[in-house]
Amino acid sequence: MTEPSTAWREVVAPDEEHRHVKQAEAFTAMQLRKSAEFGVGRALHRRQRVALRATLEVPADLPAAARQGVFASAATYEVWLRLSNGGFDVAPDSKPDIRGFAIKVLGVPGESVFGGPAASQDFALINHEHFSSSTSEEFTAITTGAGGGAVGVLKAVVRSPRIVGGLKEVVGAVRKPFGGFATEDFFSAAPIKCGPYAARVRVLAASTDVNPAAHEDWPADVYGRLATAPLVHEVQLQFFLDEERTPIEDAAATWDSPYVTVARLVIPQQEPDEAFAAKVEAARFDPWNAVVDHRPLGEVMRARKVAYRPSQENRGAD
Ligand code: HEM
Repeated sequence: MTEPSTAWREVVAPDEEHRHVKQAEAFTAMQLRKSAEFGVGRALHRRQRVALRATLEVPADLPAAARQGVFASAATYEVWLRLSNGGFDVAPDSKPDIRGFAIKVLGVPGESVFGGPAASQDFALINHEHFSSSTSEEFTAITTGAGGGAVGVLKAVVRSPRIVGGLKEVVGAVRKPFGGFATEDFFSAAPIKCGPYAARVRVLAASTDVNPAAHEDWPADVYGRLATAPLVHEVQLQFFLDEERTPIEDAAATWDSPYVTVARLVIPQQEPDEAFAAKVEAARFDPWNAVVDHRPLGEVMRARKVAYRPSQENRGAD
């Protein structure tokens, strides 16, 4: 394994917190409008498609640098998964979108980033190796603008003309073909701490056998597979090496660093369970539900610290 470095640094702008509060307000305004239209729900990733019980199996023989946080020692953790369409609307599965793979690892040892014992370690992943925008500012302007339709985007561009370049990236990300939750890789896109190191997270596809009809109904594809066998995904870390190859503050950069397998995510055979799905819908999947050893890093992650909480409160999350 390439030796990871502990020389990562965060660079926090003095006015950042204020800008993040304004962004959270823009998401809240959009969320309340959309909730009036579709019923109470998340600001983004509104449409939950699949809720699953799983386990995270951490082996004993990991490389020393990887033995941090939930990967510190051999263990099997109970996991909840929420698989979602990323948009602010409730749209058919065939509509192009970002897809979310949110993981809640329960019963983790260690202190929460906010102090006290951690209730869970969450990983909120998407089907993109890097984020569509370098900063949360651009992402928020484009996304909340798009929440108002074509006129909303136009207004957002008039307000901040420099988002035009980023618009292409976001539209490209949304249009990326998606074959189904079992056959795609998912990524944290932004880094987290891994003890003294920093890393991005990847969950590998459980199968290469793509179902050409999956886009008609993502849940049917997942549960169809689970009717015959469990789904097993490898969980990997991609370590920070240096600022040039693995920049901390630029979420839109592709990291040039190898992936190291650190665990298996095992989804046992199961059928849809409405009561459990309702619990998952009401739960908080948030990268800031984290142990100290996996504190999120970088500007986009710091923006999420401010934006997710009001979205959770506005939907009466558990
Ligand atoms: C690397 C960048 C990002 C990734 C990988 C990501 C991923 C996700 C995922 C997977 C979910 C769904 C969680 C669930 O199923 O409960 C989610 C929800 C959400 N995201 Fe992000 N996101 C990113 C950046 C952002 C940014 C920059 C903002 C705003 C500044 C944002 C705002 C939200 C909000 C408001 C929700 C709904 C939270 C809730 O009510 O539970 N995201 N995101």
